[in-house]
Amino acid sequence: MKSFFNVEDIGDLKKALAEAKQVKSTPFAWKNLGENKTIMLVFFNSSLRTRLSSQKAALNLGMNPIVLNIGQDSWKLETSMGVVMDGDKSEHIKEAIPVMTSYCDIIGIRAFAGLTDREYDYNETILRQFIEYGGKPVISLESATVHPCQAFADLITIDEYKKKDRPKVVMTWAPHPKALPQAVPNSFAQWMNAADVDFVITHPEGYELDPRFAGNARIEYDQMKALEGADFVYAKNWSCPGTTNPGDYGKILSKDMGWTVDERHMAVTDNAYFMHCLPVRRNMIVSDAVIDAPSSLVIPEAANRVVSAQVVMKRMLEDL
Ligand code: CP
Repeated sequence: MKSFFNVEDIGDLKKALAEAKQVKSTPFAWKNLGENKTIMLVFFNSSLRTRLSSQKAALNLGMNPIVLNIGQDSWKLETSMGVVMDGDKSEHIKEAIPVMTSYCDIIGIRAFAGLTDREYDYNETILRQFIEYGGKPVISLESATVHPCQAFADLITIDEYKKKDRPKVVMTWAPHPKALPQAVPNSFAQWMNAADVDFVITHPEGYELDPRFAGNARIEYDQMKALEGADFVYAKNWSCPGTTNPGDYGKILSKDMGWTVDERHMAVTDNAYFMHCLPVRRNMIVSDAVIDAPSSLVIPEAANRVVSAQVVMKRMLEDL
């Protein structure tokens, strides 16, 4: 595997899930694979789970992880081309990327969407620069439009807890005080569309995901109707993707607290499990009662981030 952004990069999902089971049951079985290999984990934005699970996955494979926080541990990096660098950015990404990749065998990048320029974000401009100037395998650790390590961990979790061959999975938008990127819902939609599940997306009008991610998923604007009979409820906030109105890209169109997932919502499901990628705003996205219930999978879901990262890194090491 040379890069990991999209569901297609992992290939056959049944095979990937079987490999995930193996990795989870015997995490140290490939301890020699990463010997004398280095992975660099570059963070332009904050992280708890991605940073720690990626390091743990690398260590399980015998690799040396190096973590770099851009702008804190390093110089501030300029990412736009052709600019006069007379501001606060001391180094250009065009030099910084090949320097960083000269020190490692695999590189992981976290670089969120700026949410001001849809074209810049949806072209994955920063990630593409790492591919173009780096020459090493690249993992998206949540880039402008995708968060594949999260979506793979979500799929692993659904596969572990499902009680039906083809469960109903509902992704519901929920309110949040700040404008958030679409990377998590984009990837979740992309992966659920590829998986053997009955997938429904529910959100207020105006929050339609880009068709390249929403695919053929069923869209239901009535949240309660969407949740009827659900086996898994996946809550997430996202800002306006600008799909129908590009001028609204990155804006908050609704803060309707009626969309906060609470016991009233869970009551119409088929005893559904609750999922969220974390971090989560309690009593904005989900009520205390729902996230604290035994049917909440947020902790096992986060734990599976090590498994998804390890499968991806293992495949990259095998292909070096
Ligand atoms: N879910 C997730 O990516 O968490 P972090 O932002 O803490 O890494």
